[in-house]
Amino acid sequence: MRAIVYTQYGPPEVLRLEEVPKPVPKENEVLVKVHFTTVNRTDCGFRRPDYFIVRLINGMFSPKVKILGSEFSGTIESTGNKVSRFKEGDEVFGLITRKFGAHADYMIVSESGSIAHKPNNFSFEEAAAVCDGLMLANGFLKDLDYSKPQKILINGASGSIGTAAVQLAKYFGATVTAVCNTRSQELVRSLGADQVIDYTKTDFTLAGNDFDFIFDAVGKSSFFKCRKLLKPKGVYVSTEFGFLSQNIFLTLFTPIFRRKGVKFPIVTDSPEDIMFFKKLIESGKYRAVIDRRYPLADIREATKYVETKEKTGNVVIEVR
Ligand SMILES: NC(=O)c1ccc[n+]([C@@H]2O[C@H](COP(=O)([O-])OP(=O)(O)OC[C@H]3O[C@@H](n4cnc5c(N)ncnc54)[C@H](OP(=O)(O)O)[C@@H]3O)[C@@H](O)[C@H]2O)c1
Repeated sequence: MRAIVYTQYGPPEVLRLEEVPKPVPKENEVLVKVHFTTVNRTDCGFRRPDYFIVRLINGMFSPKVKILGSEFSGTIESTGNKVSRFKEGDEVFGLITRKFGAHADYMIVSESGSIAHKPNNFSFEEAAAVCDGLMLANGFLKDLDYSKPQKILINGASGSIGTAAVQLAKYFGATVTAVCNTRSQELVRSLGADQVIDYTKTDFTLAGNDFDFIFDAVGKSSFFKCRKLLKPKGVYVSTEFGFLSQNIFLTLFTPIFRRKGVKFPIVTDSPEDIMFFKKLIESGKYRAVIDRRYPLADIREATKYVETKEKTGNVVIEVR
Protein backbone atom coordinates (compact mmCIF):
# COMPACT_ATOMS: atom_id res chain seq x y z
CA MET A 1 0.00 0.00 0.00
CA ARG A 2 1.01 3.67 -0.31
CA ALA A 3 2.01 5.59 2.81
CA ILE A 4 3.68 8.88 3.67
CA VAL A 5 6.71 7.84 5.69
CA TYR A 6 9.22 9.93 7.66
CA THR A 7 12.27 8.38 9.28
CA GLN A 8 13.91 11.55 10.57
CA TYR A 9 12.62 14.73 12.20
CA GLY A 10 12.76 17.84 10.06
CA PRO A 11 11.06 20.07 7.46
CA PRO A 12 8.19 18.88 5.18
CA GLU A 13 10.83 17.43 2.78
CA VAL A 14 11.41 14.49 5.21
CA LEU A 15 7.96 13.18 4.17
CA ARG A 16 8.23 10.53 1.40
CA LEU A 17 5.57 8.61 -0.51
CA GLU A 18 6.54 4.91 -0.25
CA GLU A 19 5.14 1.41 -0.76
CA VAL A 20 4.89 -0.37 2.61
CA PRO A 21 3.26 -3.66 3.68
CA LYS A 22 -0.49 -3.51 4.33
CA PRO A 23 -1.03 -3.92 8.12
CA VAL A 24 -2.95 -6.87 9.55
CA PRO A 25 -5.46 -6.25 12.39
CA LYS A 26 -5.05 -8.11 15.70
CA GLU A 27 -8.10 -9.73 17.32
CA ASN A 28 -9.46 -6.45 18.82
CA GLU A 29 -8.53 -4.21 15.91
CA VAL A 30 -10.03 -3.10 12.60
CA LEU A 31 -8.32 -2.40 9.29
CA VAL A 32 -9.66 0.86 7.83
CA LYS A 33 -9.40 1.68 4.13
CA VAL A 34 -8.71 5.41 4.43
CA HIS A 35 -10.75 7.69 2.16
CA PHE A 36 -9.79 11.09 3.59
CA THR A 37 -7.40 12.35 6.25
CA THR A 38 -6.00 15.78 7.15
CA VAL A 39 -2.71 17.50 7.79
CA ASN A 40 -3.11 19.27 11.12
CA ARG A 41 -0.87 21.13 13.53
CA THR A 42 -0.38 17.98 15.62
CA ASP A 43 1.09 16.15 12.58
CA CYS A 44 3.43 19.10 12.03
CA GLY A 45 4.37 19.22 15.70
CA PHE A 46 5.33 15.54 15.66
CA ARG A 47 7.34 15.87 12.44
CA ARG A 48 9.53 18.90 13.30
CA PRO A 49 9.31 18.71 16.46
CA ASP A 50 9.09 22.09 18.24
CA TYR A 51 8.64 20.71 21.73
CA PHE A 52 11.12 18.41 23.48
CA ILE A 53 8.23 16.43 24.96
CA VAL A 54 7.52 15.06 21.45
CA ARG A 55 10.98 13.44 21.43
CA LEU A 56 10.22 11.88 24.83
CA ILE A 57 7.00 10.43 23.40
CA ASN A 58 8.09 9.51 19.88
CA GLY A 59 11.84 8.88 20.03
CA MET A 60 14.73 11.08 21.06
CA PHE A 61 16.71 11.11 17.79
CA SER A 62 14.34 9.63 15.20
CA PRO A 63 10.58 9.01 15.16
CA LYS A 64 9.29 5.65 16.40
CA VAL A 65 5.91 6.17 14.72
CA LYS A 66 6.84 6.71 11.07
CA ILE A 67 3.44 7.33 9.46
CA LEU A 68 1.55 10.43 10.65
CA GLY A 69 -2.11 11.36 10.21
CA SER A 70 -4.50 11.47 13.16
CA GLU A 71 -7.89 12.23 11.61
CA PHE A 72 -9.54 9.77 9.25
CA SER A 73 -12.66 8.64 7.48
CA GLY A 74 -13.03 5.46 5.48
CA THR A 75 -14.55 2.00 5.32
CA ILE A 76 -13.82 -1.10 7.36
CA GLU A 77 -11.77 -3.46 5.18
CA SER A 78 -11.49 -6.30 7.68
CA THR A 79 -11.78 -6.94 11.43
CA GLY A 80 -10.02 -9.03 14.07
CA ASN A 81 -11.98 -12.07 15.24
CA LYS A 82 -13.06 -10.50 18.60
CA VAL A 83 -14.41 -7.26 17.07
CA SER A 84 -18.17 -6.84 17.54
CA ARG A 85 -18.86 -3.11 16.99
CA PHE A 86 -17.83 -3.02 13.32
CA LYS A 87 -18.11 -5.21 10.24
CA GLU A 88 -16.61 -5.17 6.77
CA GLY A 89 -17.93 -2.27 4.68
CA ASP A 90 -19.00 -0.05 7.62
CA GLU A 91 -18.36 3.65 7.03
CA VAL A 92 -16.35 5.12 9.90
CA PHE A 93 -14.54 8.24 11.10
CA GLY A 94 -12.34 9.06 14.05
CA LEU A 95 -9.10 10.18 15.57
CA ILE A 96 -5.89 8.41 16.54
CA THR A 97 -3.64 10.81 18.40
CA ARG A 98 -0.90 8.56 19.76
CA LYS A 99 -0.33 5.88 17.13
CA PHE A 100 -1.25 8.01 14.08
CA GLY A 101 -1.16 6.15 10.71
CA ALA A 102 -3.89 7.82 8.62
CA HIS A 103 -1.50 9.13 5.94
CA ALA A 104 -1.75 5.77 4.17
CA ASP A 105 -4.11 3.66 2.09
CA TYR A 106 -4.89 1.46 5.13
CA MET A 107 -4.58 1.96 8.88
CA ILE A 108 -5.15 -0.05 12.03
CA VAL A 109 -7.51 1.21 14.77
CA SER A 110 -8.41 -0.51 18.03
CA GLU A 111 -12.11 -1.32 18.29
CA SER A 112 -12.10 0.46 21.67
CA GLY A 113 -10.33 3.51 20.22
CA SER A 114 -11.75 6.85 19.06
CA ILE A 115 -13.68 5.47 16.10
CA ALA A 116 -17.41 5.52 15.32
CA HIS A 117 -19.77 5.06 12.42
CA LYS A 118 -19.62 8.07 10.11
CA PRO A 119 -22.42 10.64 10.66
CA ASN A 120 -25.02 9.96 7.98
CA ASN A 121 -25.33 13.64 6.99
CA PHE A 122 -21.56 14.10 6.37
CA SER A 123 -19.47 13.12 3.35
CA PHE A 124 -16.21 11.19 3.93
CA GLU A 125 -14.34 14.42 3.25
CA GLU A 126 -16.27 16.36 5.89
CA ALA A 127 -16.05 13.52 8.41
CA ALA A 128 -12.24 13.53 8.23
CA ALA A 129 -12.08 17.25 8.99
CA VAL A 130 -13.71 17.54 12.39
CA CYS A 131 -12.26 15.39 15.15
CA ASP A 132 -8.94 17.05 16.06
CA GLY A 133 -10.30 20.60 16.30
CA LEU A 134 -13.43 19.39 18.08
CA MET A 135 -11.49 17.24 20.55
CA LEU A 136 -9.26 20.15 21.55
CA ALA A 137 -12.09 22.70 21.67
CA ASN A 138 -14.26 20.29 23.67
CA GLY A 139 -11.44 19.58 26.11
CA PHE A 140 -11.12 23.29 26.84
CA LEU A 141 -14.83 24.21 26.88
CA LYS A 142 -16.82 21.24 28.18
CA ASP A 143 -16.28 21.79 31.92
CA LEU A 144 -17.68 25.32 32.13
CA ASP A 145 -20.87 25.67 34.14
CA TYR A 146 -23.41 26.32 31.37
CA SER A 147 -26.28 26.46 33.88
CA LYS A 148 -25.08 30.08 34.32
CA PRO A 149 -24.70 32.49 31.39
CA GLN A 150 -21.16 32.19 30.00
CA LYS A 151 -19.64 35.01 28.01
CA ILE A 152 -16.69 33.64 26.06
CA LEU A 153 -14.05 35.30 23.88
CA ILE A 154 -12.33 33.06 21.31
CA ASN A 155 -9.09 34.38 19.81
CA GLY A 156 -8.03 32.65 16.57
CA ALA A 157 -11.63 31.78 15.69
CA SER A 158 -10.80 30.97 12.04
CA GLY A 159 -8.41 28.07 12.72
CA SER A 160 -9.19 24.40 13.09
CA ILE A 161 -9.64 24.60 16.86
CA GLY A 162 -11.19 28.08 16.66
CA THR A 163 -13.95 27.17 14.18
CA ALA A 164 -14.77 24.13 16.33
CA ALA A 165 -14.73 26.22 19.50
CA VAL A 166 -17.15 28.83 18.15
CA GLN A 167 -19.66 26.16 17.12
CA LEU A 168 -19.29 24.16 20.33
CA ALA A 169 -19.57 27.20 22.63
CA LYS A 170 -22.79 28.19 20.83
CA TYR A 171 -24.07 24.61 21.10
CA PHE A 172 -23.42 24.74 24.88
CA GLY A 173 -25.40 27.99 25.07
CA ALA A 174 -22.62 30.56 25.60
CA THR A 175 -22.46 34.09 24.19
CA VAL A 176 -19.45 34.21 21.88
CA THR A 177 -17.16 37.03 20.84
CA ALA A 178 -14.80 35.79 18.13
CA VAL A 179 -11.50 37.31 17.00
CA CYS A 180 -10.24 36.67 13.46
CA ASN A 181 -8.88 38.47 10.39
CA THR A 182 -10.91 40.45 7.82
CA ARG A 183 -11.43 37.65 5.31
CA SER A 184 -12.86 35.23 7.92
CA GLN A 185 -15.48 37.61 9.40
CA GLU A 186 -18.40 36.22 7.37
CA LEU A 187 -17.44 32.62 7.99
CA VAL A 188 -17.08 33.02 11.75
CA ARG A 189 -20.37 34.89 11.97
CA SER A 190 -22.05 32.09 9.99
CA LEU A 191 -20.72 29.58 12.54
CA GLY A 192 -22.76 31.38 15.20
CA ALA A 193 -20.48 34.02 16.77
CA ASP A 194 -22.55 36.80 18.35
CA GLN A 195 -19.85 39.41 17.87
CA VAL A 196 -16.79 39.31 15.62
CA ILE A 197 -13.67 41.45 16.07
CA ASP A 198 -11.23 41.96 13.19
CA TYR A 199 -7.82 41.82 14.83
CA THR A 200 -6.21 43.56 11.86
CA LYS A 201 -8.29 46.66 12.66
CA THR A 202 -9.09 46.53 16.38
CA ASP A 203 -7.17 45.52 19.49
CA PHE A 204 -9.45 42.85 20.95
CA THR A 205 -8.05 43.38 24.43
CA LEU A 206 -10.11 46.59 24.50
CA ALA A 207 -13.37 44.62 24.08
CA GLY A 208 -14.71 45.20 27.61
CA ASN A 209 -14.15 43.60 30.99
CA ASP A 210 -16.93 41.10 31.52
CA PHE A 211 -15.80 37.80 30.00
CA ASP A 212 -16.16 34.62 32.03
CA PHE A 213 -13.74 32.72 29.82
CA ILE A 214 -11.11 33.58 27.23
CA PHE A 215 -10.02 30.81 24.89
CA ASP A 216 -6.84 31.71 23.02
CA ALA A 217 -7.23 29.07 20.30
CA VAL A 218 -4.04 30.10 18.47
CA GLY A 219 -1.91 30.92 21.50
CA LYS A 220 -1.03 34.35 20.10
CA SER A 221 -1.99 36.37 23.17
CA SER A 222 -1.28 35.90 26.88
CA PHE A 223 -2.95 35.96 30.29
CA PHE A 224 -1.21 39.24 31.09
CA LYS A 225 -2.68 40.91 27.97
CA CYS A 226 -6.13 39.38 28.44
CA ARG A 227 -6.71 39.52 32.19
CA LYS A 228 -8.31 42.99 32.05
CA LEU A 229 -11.04 41.45 29.86
CA LEU A 230 -11.97 38.90 32.50
CA LYS A 231 -14.58 39.19 35.23
CA PRO A 232 -13.43 38.36 38.76
CA LYS A 233 -12.91 34.55 38.81
CA GLY A 234 -12.74 34.56 35.01
CA VAL A 235 -10.41 32.05 33.33
CA TYR A 236 -7.89 32.29 30.46
CA VAL A 237 -6.87 29.15 28.57
CA SER A 238 -4.45 28.82 25.66
CA THR A 239 -3.53 26.09 23.20
CA GLU A 240 0.15 27.03 23.62
CA PHE A 241 2.51 26.89 26.61
CA GLY A 242 3.25 30.62 26.17
CA PHE A 243 6.48 32.58 26.65
CA LEU A 244 8.80 30.63 29.02
CA SER A 245 5.98 28.05 29.43
CA GLN A 246 4.16 30.63 31.54
CA ASN A 247 0.75 28.98 31.11
CA ILE A 248 1.94 25.92 33.04
CA PHE A 249 3.24 28.03 35.95
CA LEU A 250 0.21 30.32 35.91
CA THR A 251 -2.08 27.27 36.04
CA LEU A 252 -0.32 26.26 39.26
CA PHE A 253 -0.13 29.70 40.88
CA THR A 254 -3.18 31.75 39.82
CA PRO A 255 -5.67 29.60 41.86
CA ILE A 256 -3.88 30.80 45.01
CA PHE A 257 -5.06 34.36 44.33
CA ARG A 258 -8.61 33.21 43.45
CA ARG A 259 -9.36 36.23 41.30
CA LYS A 260 -8.62 35.55 37.65
CA GLY A 261 -6.96 32.34 36.65
CA VAL A 262 -5.19 30.35 33.94
CA LYS A 263 -5.92 26.73 33.10
CA PHE A 264 -3.91 24.45 30.84
CA PRO A 265 -5.88 21.23 30.42
CA ILE A 266 -4.14 18.21 28.91
CA VAL A 267 -6.57 17.04 26.23
CA THR A 268 -6.61 13.55 24.74
CA ASP A 269 -9.04 11.73 22.48
CA SER A 270 -11.65 9.30 23.78
CA PRO A 271 -14.33 7.08 22.19
CA GLU A 272 -16.99 8.94 24.22
CA ASP A 273 -15.92 12.20 22.58
CA ILE A 274 -16.27 10.72 19.10
CA MET A 275 -19.77 9.47 19.89
CA PHE A 276 -20.65 12.97 21.14
CA PHE A 277 -19.22 14.52 17.93
CA LYS A 278 -21.30 12.12 15.83
CA LYS A 279 -24.49 13.12 17.69
CA LEU A 280 -23.59 16.81 17.45
CA ILE A 281 -23.05 16.52 13.68
CA GLU A 282 -26.20 14.45 13.14
CA SER A 283 -28.23 17.06 15.06
CA GLY A 284 -27.29 19.50 12.26
CA LYS A 285 -25.56 21.83 14.72
CA TYR A 286 -22.02 21.39 13.44
CA ARG A 287 -20.35 22.11 10.14
CA ALA A 288 -16.96 21.00 8.81
CA VAL A 289 -14.82 23.96 7.69
CA ILE A 290 -12.52 22.91 4.85
CA ASP A 291 -9.97 25.28 3.39
CA ARG A 292 -7.99 23.25 0.81
CA ARG A 293 -7.79 19.67 -0.48
CA TYR A 294 -4.72 17.83 -1.75
CA PRO A 295 -4.12 14.30 -3.05
CA LEU A 296 -1.97 12.03 -0.84
CA ALA A 297 1.00 12.43 -3.17
CA ASP A 298 1.01 16.21 -2.54
CA ILE A 299 1.24 15.97 1.23
CA ARG A 300 4.43 18.04 1.37
CA GLU A 301 2.61 20.93 -0.30
CA ALA A 302 -0.33 20.50 2.08
CA THR A 303 2.06 20.50 5.03
CA LYS A 304 3.82 23.64 3.85
CA TYR A 305 0.47 25.36 3.60
CA VAL A 306 -0.57 24.26 7.11
CA GLU A 307 2.76 25.56 8.41
CA THR A 308 2.01 29.06 7.09
CA LYS A 309 -0.35 29.10 10.13
CA GLU A 310 -2.85 30.90 7.91
CA LYS A 311 -5.24 28.12 7.04
CA THR A 312 -8.93 28.60 7.64
CA GLY A 313 -10.37 25.55 9.37
CA ASN A 314 -8.94 22.31 8.00
CA VAL A 315 -6.76 20.99 5.17
CA VAL A 316 -7.92 17.60 3.88
CA ILE A 317 -6.02 14.89 2.03
CA GLU A 318 -7.81 12.61 -0.42
CA VAL A 319 -6.37 9.12 -0.10
CA ARG A 320 -8.81 6.81 -1.90
N1 LIG B 1 -2.62 21.98 23.08
C1 LIG B 1 -2.61 21.02 22.13
O1 LIG B 1 -2.68 19.83 22.43
C2 LIG B 1 -2.53 21.42 20.69
C3 LIG B 1 -2.70 20.47 19.66
C4 LIG B 1 -2.69 20.91 18.33
C5 LIG B 1 -2.47 22.26 18.09
N2 LIG B 1 -2.23 23.10 19.11
C6 LIG B 1 -1.98 24.53 18.89
O2 LIG B 1 -3.24 25.15 18.77
C7 LIG B 1 -3.13 26.27 17.95
C8 LIG B 1 -4.24 26.29 16.94
O3 LIG B 1 -4.21 25.15 16.13
P1 LIG B 1 -5.10 25.14 14.84
O4 LIG B 1 -4.88 23.84 14.18
O5 LIG B 1 -6.47 25.57 15.16
O6 LIG B 1 -4.36 26.28 14.04
P2 LIG B 1 -4.59 26.79 12.58
O7 LIG B 1 -5.82 26.16 12.00
O8 LIG B 1 -3.30 26.66 11.87
O9 LIG B 1 -4.89 28.33 12.91
C9 LIG B 1 -4.61 29.25 11.99
C10 LIG B 1 -5.62 30.37 12.15
O10 LIG B 1 -5.20 31.26 13.15
C11 LIG B 1 -5.45 32.58 12.71
N3 LIG B 1 -4.51 33.52 13.30
C12 LIG B 1 -3.20 33.64 13.05
N4 LIG B 1 -2.68 34.65 13.76
C13 LIG B 1 -3.69 35.18 14.49
C14 LIG B 1 -3.77 36.24 15.44
N5 LIG B 1 -2.72 36.97 15.78
N6 LIG B 1 -4.96 36.49 16.00
C15 LIG B 1 -6.04 35.76 15.69
N7 LIG B 1 -6.03 34.74 14.77
C16 LIG B 1 -4.86 34.46 14.19
C17 LIG B 1 -5.22 32.47 11.23
O11 LIG B 1 -5.89 33.44 10.56
P3 LIG B 1 -5.07 34.51 9.69
O12 LIG B 1 -3.62 34.15 9.70
O13 LIG B 1 -5.65 34.41 8.34
O14 LIG B 1 -5.32 35.75 10.40
C18 LIG B 1 -5.74 31.09 10.86
O15 LIG B 1 -7.08 31.11 10.44
C19 LIG B 1 -1.75 26.25 17.35
O16 LIG B 1 -0.98 27.19 18.07
C20 LIG B 1 -1.26 24.86 17.61
O17 LIG B 1 0.12 24.78 17.77
C21 LIG B 1 -2.30 22.73 20.41
